[in-house]
Amino acid sequence: MDRDPLAQPLALRPGIVLRNRIAKSAMSEQLGGASHEATPELARLYRAWSDGGAGLLITGNVMVDGRALGEPGNVVVEDERHLDALRAWSSSAGDTPIWMQINHPGRQIPRAVGKEPVAPSAVPMAGLGTVFAKPRALLDREIREIIERFATTAMIAEKARFKGVQIHAAHGYLISQFLSPRTNLRTDRWGGAIEARMRFLMEIIRAIKSAVSSRFAIGVKLNSADFQRGAFSEEESIAVVQAIEAEGIDLLEISGGTYERTVWSRAPKRESTRAREAYFLDYVEKVRDKTRLLLMLTGGFRTADAMRSALVSRAVDVVGLARPLAAEPDLPTRILEGRADAALPVKLRMGITRIDDLIEATWYQRQIRELASGRPARPTAGRLFALQGIARFVTGGRSLRSVPHGSTDASSADRGGERALGSAST
Ligand SMILES: Cc1cc2nc3c(=O)[nH]c(=O)nc-3n(C[C@H](O)[C@H](O)[C@H](O)COP(=O)(O)O)c2cc1C
Repeated sequence: MDRDPLAQPLALRPGIVLRNRIAKSAMSEQLGGASHEATPELARLYRAWSDGGAGLLITGNVMVDGRALGEPGNVVVEDERHLDALRAWSSSAGDTPIWMQINHPGRQIPRAVGKEPVAPSAVPMAGLGTVFAKPRALLDREIREIIERFATTAMIAEKARFKGVQIHAAHGYLISQFLSPRTNLRTDRWGGAIEARMRFLMEIIRAIKSAVSSRFAIGVKLNSADFQRGAFSEEESIAVVQAIEAEGIDLLEISGGTYERTVWSRAPKRESTRAREAYFLDYVEKVRDKTRLLLMLTGGFRTADAMRSALVSRAVDVVGLARPLAAEPDLPTRILEGRADAALPVKLRMGITRIDDLIEATWYQRQIRELASGRPARPTAGRLFALQGIARFVTGGRSLRSVPHGSTDASSADRGGERALGSAST
């Protein structure tokens, strides 16, 4: 399989080389300790993922501010207090590079997790008011402070020997809130035309670049669009890609959607897209002609054929996989060695979006927990596997001290469990 496009190394720039084209995309592990430090479970989990053969591992979102959590079990990096624990995590994957995804949730802080969410403007989450409180608009001074926080977290990540960071600018979190005209109604230098709405992201990239060395990689995860009327559009996304290119980063990952529209994890209805698997492939093909940035695409890839043809067509440089690697951490190796040609099908959905999202999210979160405990994942488990997790949580058990990712149904919040159930991370 020497000529396998998936097996080809990729030089992001001199000295930063991925050994193959499969990356594990971010999945919030919710395995932070009592002080939001990295735990031995995280190290065990990333050892399993590095053994599984992906060329790059991107962590679940790590928060830049301990007052702004997206979920109860987030790791927070805002000072050097837990540097040793971070080093144990960063060294768990041997030669495989781990990039820390860094994030601020903005208004996507579930009520059960934080009291006063902040955002570019005081725009509440549409239809999700029971789960998410109305945010307060940030002051100019606070915006600058958050930019500095991103830079500090990246600097500490390098000191802790992570090989890079990925800035989470997708999925409706704070940076994505700045980008969208639906959530950014500001009339100062941070709002208005797309050039102003993207200023927050550009200043974060600049601040990080001046805080880290040239050996440290910088990636961005960006929405192709928010998929909502009047929100961040495909045209605006392309303008942001070109501006990011002008700043210079190492890898741009494409996704889509927000908590109000969780399209990053759902098969689209269009037949043509279903056949090609990857949800945002059409967008990537469009943007490819307009940028020289290296592109990673995540969302929907399940068969080796679809992954290879996305690479061969030159639409993408790196294939991102998230859910398949929670259930089958060794899938990259089996694909690269020709022992597998697809992820096992996971059929959990019944057609009731909110409930399906909750079950699916809990199912994957439980798989991650199995791996973190040193047990094998259970890719053929059914809905019961998720329901047991939810039941144990509701009755106060320890198995789900987390928030099911990708579900905006937090109706069980505060009903017990080791930690409050909040919402979903992306
Ligand atoms: C349990 C879980 C946690 C996730 N956490 C994050 C996250 O922290 N940051 C992020 O950018 N995306 C997150 N995602 C979204 C994935 O990175 C990915 O975009 C999405 O699952 C689609 O890719 P897939 O079809 O390969 O799963 C998460 C997804 C799942 C299932």
